Amino acid sequence: MTPARLGVILLGPPGAGKGSEAELIVERYGIPHISTGDMLRQQIRSGTELGRLAARFIEKGLLVPDKVVVDMVSDRLGWSDCENGFLLDGFPRSVGQAEALHASGHTVTDVILLDVGDELIVRRITSRRSCPACGRVYNVVTLPSRDGVHCDSCQDVELIVRADDGEATIRNRLREYQAMTAPLVEWYGARGLLKRVNGEGTVDEVFVRILEVISVGGSTEE
Ligand code: AP5
Ligand code: MG
Repeated sequence: MTPARLGVILLGPPGAGKGSEAELIVERYGIPHISTGDMLRQQIRSGTELGRLAARFIEKGLLVPDKVVVDMVSDRLGWSDCENGFLLDGFPRSVGQAEALHASGHTVTDVILLDVGDELIVRRITSRRSCPACGRVYNVVTLPSRDGVHCDSCQDVELIVRADDGEATIRNRLREYQAMTAPLVEWYGARGLLKRVNGEGTVDEVFVRILEVISVGGSTEE
């Protein structure tokens, strides 16, 4: 029998809960979590040329150019831990990126769209805190860390407010999502891969809805 293999894309507006649900999905299925946002922030922290370029777009709430993220993701998908599947969080984010992923031959089994209204998104993001070391996501209202200051996984690291989490930048990110990323709903719908999930409710409630639609065991289509 062909081994189970999941190629999952988490699609949805900023603050929809992609990172939060990704943590639970990768734990359940033992596949790597590939977040382009986390990868770009790591480049910024390391002070690389790529990071300096990315920062100019991220701080304005704009998408980083396709070529930069496509090259980054295609390199990451070549690592051996992706042989049994992967979870892409925040990629693709434009039709150009989806076409590049499709052309690369990596099999996508599930595109999960997290549906959340704009006002709830702004509330969630403005109360988010993140660990600058491991990327773990918290929320001062719904999911505080144990002491409210430090990351539970990286004990002496203080949680931060992400640089692009100010309300004006969030509004730009939502506009960018509508213009550049929302067309992917139709793109993946036409390919029979789109699974729409109500992203409102608790993280655990949303996770249960994801488990109901995900190709458990993975499609073996190549
Ligand atoms: P990225 O880091 O991907 O940001 P994003 O898509 O804007 O999404 P977020 O990380 O803000 O939200 P999320 O959906 O992960 O929600 P989370 O789980 O944290 O990208 C950042 C930037 O990088 C982009 O703007 C762009 O410039 C660039 N970039 C990245 N990828 C790119 C690409 N492919 N192409 C071009 N540019 C790219 O949840 C939010 C908060 O809500 C948290 O506090 C969480 O605890 C809380 N929460 C989540 N779910 C629930 C729930 N069910 N109930 C209660 N609280 C919840
Ligand atoms: Mg995220």
